[in-house]
Amino acid sequence: MEFTALIPAAGLGTRMLPATKETPKEMLPVPVRSGSSIVFKPFIQVIFEHLYGAGIRSFVFVVGRGKRILQDHFLPDYDLLEELEQKGKEEQASTLREFHRMLEDSTIIWVDQHEPRGLGDAVKRGLQAVSTEGVLVHLGDILLYGRDNFLSEFLSVYKEAPSCSALLGLFRVKDPRKYGVVVPGEEIRRNLYRLVGMVEKPENPPSDMIITGVYAFRTRDIREALESTGKNPRTGEIEITDAIARLVEGGGVCGYVAEAYDYIDIGKPETYIETLFRLVQD
Ligand code: G1P
Repeated sequence: MEFTALIPAAGLGTRMLPATKETPKEMLPVPVRSGSSIVFKPFIQVIFEHLYGAGIRSFVFVVGRGKRILQDHFLPDYDLLEELEQKGKEEQASTLREFHRMLEDSTIIWVDQHEPRGLGDAVKRGLQAVSTEGVLVHLGDILLYGRDNFLSEFLSVYKEAPSCSALLGLFRVKDPRKYGVVVPGEEIRRNLYRLVGMVEKPENPPSDMIITGVYAFRTRDIREALESTGKNPRTGEIEITDAIARLVEGGGVCGYVAEAYDYIDIGKPETYIETLFRLVQD
């Protein structure tokens, strides 16, 4: 099955104000190990490179007002490259060359979400530009990383579990109340569960497994589910979790716990700070 990556990056970044007043949170820098040195990359570039590393070449970013800088960042800058080469700054030039190579090899479509109407609405808009049978939704402010590329593993698990029509990346945390939390059912195999329910930011979490923000769907299924999902009464927004909860009724929604990986979330000050003290793997 062929996949397009759909990356919602239209959120206002309210929890990261004032840093996000003019700078989208997706552009916040994170430290990355590159050969023997450390470089700072905008978070969204790290996500793109991980998706690329998992074999994805077709990307849809959902953005909105104040997010043009993201689009600029994903345009190759040949003048800058030439300048670096002329000045003999080989290390910086090679990092840029590598990013350019991935961009030249990819198709990227930018879709606008006109108003912040929720994650479900952003995904619904992005889906209009997806023409592959499968879609890998990857939120623009989280990452699962480790020695191996989590997304490659995630896509193989999905492809090898035909009874799962949708797969959610899960992570076990001590306090899941600020996340979407799943109700696991049968364990199909180690770390792979059929899901029987899910709830967004619960006071009394039904498990310790959070929805990380990495989801694989059949494009047609999630499109239909979102079309029949109304505003969430608590948030007044269209929530992707509500749309997936509809798919759960059909029995094909599974969750895969990322066990050997670290989870980072740059959307909250208390978790972004942790990211700065770690080194993300390229
Ligand atoms: C979103 C999802 C939630 C998920 C979280 C991961 O929430 O709705 O289910 O656990 O991302 O970061 P948000 O962070 O946009 O409030």
